[in-house]
Amino acid sequence: MTVHGTGPVDRSRLAGRTALVLGGGHGSQDGGTVGIGFATATTFARHGAATVVVDRDADAAVRTVDEIRRSGGTGHAVVADATDPDQVEAAVSEALRRTGRLDVVHNNVGVTCLGGPEELTLEQWRATLAVNLDSVFLSAQKTIPHLLRHGGVIVNVSSTASIRWTGYPYPAYAAAKAAVNQLTRSLAVQYADRGIRVNAILAGLIDTPLVYRQLAGGRTVADVRAERAALSPTGAMGSPYDIAHAALFLASDEAAYITGTLLPVDGGLHVRAA
Ligand SMILES: NC(=O)c1ccc[n+]([C@@H]2O[C@H](COP(=O)([O-])OP(=O)(O)OC[C@H]3O[C@@H](n4cnc5c(N)ncnc54)[C@H](O)[C@@H]3O)[C@@H](O)[C@H]2O)c1
Repeated sequence: MTVHGTGPVDRSRLAGRTALVLGGGHGSQDGGTVGIGFATATTFARHGAATVVVDRDADAAVRTVDEIRRSGGTGHAVVADATDPDQVEAAVSEALRRTGRLDVVHNNVGVTCLGGPEELTLEQWRATLAVNLDSVFLSAQKTIPHLLRHGGVIVNVSSTASIRWTGYPYPAYAAAKAAVNQLTRSLAVQYADRGIRVNAILAGLIDTPLVYRQLAGGRTVADVRAERAALSPTGAMGSPYDIAHAALFLASDEAAYITGTLLPVDGGLHVRAA
């Protein structure tokens, strides 16, 4: 498991590219860890990409960009709600205005919502689909016209929960992420001969603030951490940087012949839960 964001860096890997990370803010500090979007945005920037961090939380977006600049990278913060078509369009325009091009789009926005049909209201169901699924559709809709100019890459953050029961009763989240998978595969084939690659990462049990904020149900950080470690075949949660490094690979030319893939990054969870 990668436990932090340091390590070998090849700044030429994404040099000259622009990466848009939706949901890339550095938000709450729950659990004393960082989000996947923060880990990915800073990793892209450390490998040479001019990185535009989009988040609905302005302070969170600025915190990520501050970290990118502190470590010598190029970053820009943009505020937008990824479920709002006009705001997504404005964010893409702003990214292009700041950087002049668009090469990599990383769709990280997501939210869990515990409860099944007996507990959830229709509004909660729709809101969960909007954040996890509409955000990916809107991002594709607003960025693909620009990616078509010279080719590009879309990386969607999905979940092991899209294909397996992972221990949490959140069918709205699981259904939304399953739809993200098939949207990924569908777009991959549709644009394969026009220079756009589309892949998804199926993240497993990852140690991010979300799990303490949205899945704790009143339990302590230590209890949540122990429970999720026990659920993982490796005996530990993954780090957000495990997801970031997979995204870096998929975004790079090393993955030039990879499209339509759903890549599990979960310490083997999807195998055991089969
Ligand atoms: N943490 C895990 O174990 C895990 C497992 C599988 C998949 N994932 C997925 O990874 C992604 C990131 O998860 P995380 O744990 O880092 O979560 P997080 O809550 O730490 O990060 C999500 C970011 O998205 C932003 N965001 C949320 N809704 C938004 C909206 N409508 N518009 C713009 N920004 C918005 C938040 O402000 C936050 O900065 C999500 O898609 C999540 O479903 C996480």
